[in-house]
Amino acid sequence: MDSALILKYLEKILEKDEPSEINQQVDELISILKNTLSPENDIFNEPGENFLFVIDELNNIRETYSAERKKYYLNRVIKSLTEVKTTYFNDINLNRWKEYKDLKTESLWLFSKRDRTGSHSGKYWGNFIPQIPNQLLRRYTKRGDWVLDPFSGGGTTLIECKRLCRNSLGLEISPEAVSEASEKILAQEGDSDITTDILTANSLTFDYEAYLKKRGVTGFQFVVLHPPYWDIIKFSDDPDDPSNCTEPDDYLRLLGALTDRIYDLLDEGRYLALVIGDKYNKGEWTPLGFYAMQEIMKRGMKLKSVIIKNFEETRGKMQQKELWRYRALAGGFYIFKHEYIFLFRKPPTRKPDKNDPPETN
Ligand SMILES: C[S@@+](CC[C@H](N)C(=O)[O-])C[C@H]1O[C@@H](n2cnc3c(N)ncnc32)[C@H](O)[C@@H]1O
Repeated sequence: MDSALILKYLEKILEKDEPSEINQQVDELISILKNTLSPENDIFNEPGENFLFVIDELNNIRETYSAERKKYYLNRVIKSLTEVKTTYFNDINLNRWKEYKDLKTESLWLFSKRDRTGSHSGKYWGNFIPQIPNQLLRRYTKRGDWVLDPFSGGGTTLIECKRLCRNSLGLEISPEAVSEASEKILAQEGDSDITTDILTANSLTFDYEAYLKKRGVTGFQFVVLHPPYWDIIKFSDDPDDPSNCTEPDDYLRLLGALTDRIYDLLDEGRYLALVIGDKYNKGEWTPLGFYAMQEIMKRGMKLKSVIIKNFEETRGKMQQKELWRYRALAGGFYIFKHEYIFLFRKPPTRKPDKNDPPETN
């Protein structure tokens, strides 16, 4: 069953004027669709060809009483099959929004296992799970957009960009990390018109303008920042590596300097995500995440969302779980399991124009 055939059916149903006749034909179509259900949608749960949403809508139509109401909803199904409605910052077809079942829209993200599909391996110490860039890229970028990851580590964001057909630049200070990530990126299938660059570079001093010029683009449409969580894992000896900072103020100074560096490179109205965790040491909780959030807000970025994320199965947490539970009971504190994803939008600076992206949503 393809959409052209469904449309023909729907148009035939629209010719009926009696609610009972409409329901009879709706039932017929539901049963045809159920018999021709194809396997689940692809791994990214984009709208597929299984038309589950049409079955849902038809069931709702059955429940309405008047023929007018039924026709109104039938026309809506026709629209969802024939028209695509997207925003300026992603490719989500809003006319079929019910089909993106795995896309998160609430601020608590709980994951029980790491996505190991594609060339993701999860080996890089200090990486994030692929589901994080996957969710963010699908919500905040379009196909062919340019994504910047200034702390690219094991390349998780870049692999996900390649899978989702987004161009990407990743910068990483550790040459070993870059060589490991490069292999995984190469092993990942992707479209030939998509660029995936990972470079050994210090993101604080990198010549972004020269890079963009070389690639023939004017800016980035999305930035993912996943910096070291202060000195919890030491990544290198470089003084521009935030994992070498001795005080939170030094850490924030580096993060602020990086935000200053990349602010102009991000297109107006587009988004930046900061993925970060706090630190607990010597009996004191340092709210690194909130400090970092404020540092970025000071630069004029508008805070859009604060997401709390937990992933239960991280290696370090598994090993030390029992010990930390004892320490928490004895020491009068709570073990933090969560991390933050802060989402910012760069506000437009020009006078509003009727073609501008809406400011309120
Ligand atoms: C938390 S990890 C990022 C992990 C990455 N998201 C992943 O999934 O693999 C932070 C990374 O930033 C790198 N780094 C630290 N300072 C840097 C700098 N100034 N420029 C570029 N990379 C840097 C570290 O070597 C480390 O790999």
